[in-house]
Amino acid sequence: PQRTLVILKPDAVRRGLTGEIIGRIERKADWSLAAVELRTLDRATLEQHYAEHEGRPFYEPLVEFMASGPSVVMVVEGERVIEGVRALAGPTDPIAAAPGSVRGDFGTIVRENLIHASDSEESAEREMKIFFPSFA
Ligand code: GTP
Ligand code: MG
Repeated sequence: PQRTLVILKPDAVRRGLTGEIIGRIERKADWSLAAVELRTLDRATLEQHYAEHEGRPFYEPLVEFMASGPSVVMVVEGERVIEGVRALAGPTDPIAAAPGSVRGDFGTIVRENLIHASDSEESAEREMKIFFPSFA
C-alpha cells in the first residue's frame, strides 16, 4: 500500500484539533496509521524538510512556527493516501480551501494551516526518511 508523511502542525496541537483530524484520516476506508508520535521538531529537521523553500520570504517564520511547540508526526498507509490526505487537507491557503477540508473548516492563516502531507511518492519517501529514519 502507499504511504505518506503527515504532520499535524503546532497550531493543530495547541488548538486541540489533533483528534478531529486523525479521526477524519482514520475513518477513510482502508487507511491506517503506521506510525504516530508527538514531537517538537528541531531546526535541523525542519531545514531538511523545507529545503525547497529556503530563501523564500515565508521560510524563516515558517521554520520558527513549526518549532514553536509539539507536532504530531505520522505515517499514514492505504489506498491512494498521498493524493487522498492532500485532498482531505485542502489547498495551502485556508481561506481558499473549501469547507469540509481540514484547512477549510479550521484555518484562516496561510502559515498556520494545521496539516502537512507529502505531495508525491518521491516526497513521501524523502520525508519518511527524515522523520522516521528507522521505519522507512
Ligand atoms: P505543506 O503540506 O505544509 O508542505 O503545505 P503545502 O504543500 O500546501 O504548501 P507548500 O509546500 O508550498 O508550503 C509549505 C508551507 O509553507 C505551507 O503549508 C504554509 O504553512 C507555508 N507557506 C507556503 N506558502 C506561503 C506563503 O505564501 N506565505 C506564508 N506565510 N506561508 C506560506
Ligand atoms: Mg508542501
